[in-house]
Amino acid sequence: MLLHLKNLLNPQELARARLLLGDDAPWTDGRSTAGGQAVAHKRNEQLAQDSAQATELQQLVLGALRRDPLFFSAALPRRIFNPLFNRYRVGADRYGAHVDGAVLHSKATQEWVRTDVSCTLFLADPDEYDGGELLVHDSYGNRGVKLAAGDAVLYPGTSVHEVTPVTRGARIASFFWIESMVRGDEQRRTLFELDLNLLRLRERHGESAETLALSGVYHNLLRQWAST
Ligand code: NI
Repeated sequence: MLLHLKNLLNPQELARARLLLGDDAPWTDGRSTAGGQAVAHKRNEQLAQDSAQATELQQLVLGALRRDPLFFSAALPRRIFNPLFNRYRVGADRYGAHVDGAVLHSKATQEWVRTDVSCTLFLADPDEYDGGELLVHDSYGNRGVKLAAGDAVLYPGTSVHEVTPVTRGARIASFFWIESMVRGDEQRRTLFELDLNLLRLRERHGESAETLALSGVYHNLLRQWAST
């Protein structure tokens, strides 16, 4: 499932993030954090993880995630890998097709995080750069994603994906992974659709015996599938 989260950051947060990610930020060679098969395909810049900018930005992004009910419902987060930040521009412009590691070690929290769900939060507007599409390969074909600054996309951690070459300007983004309470994408999707449609039913008709019973179904499925 690909899910578009609109306005994950508010305008003040976006402006702050952009200020912290300016040209004087501690950008480093992105290849230093790519492992195995990924490293040969990776050509970008990444914000130094132990910098003051990264610490403030991580809190900013995590705070935005915490208040977004759509994010919670879709990802059912158990752990979140500390958000990372990257920049693509001419000369360091792409990340070819690759898969992310299944478990990653977070420097910030010293935890291992299983990468069930991937997230890219766009921090530059589409008119600021050409190329730089996130291309997610799936069984229906490749899906290109290029969103407004402040918007994010969730996609399965299992998918092959790439960032196409940037030919003008700079693409700045945050990216990270979520270990979900529910490991399987199919099960998460089922729960998300049930939750979303229950919400719509309640909006239209108010609470009823049926919505109450279906809420019970939701929680019983979650109880069966979740590990905490
Ligand atoms: Ni990746």
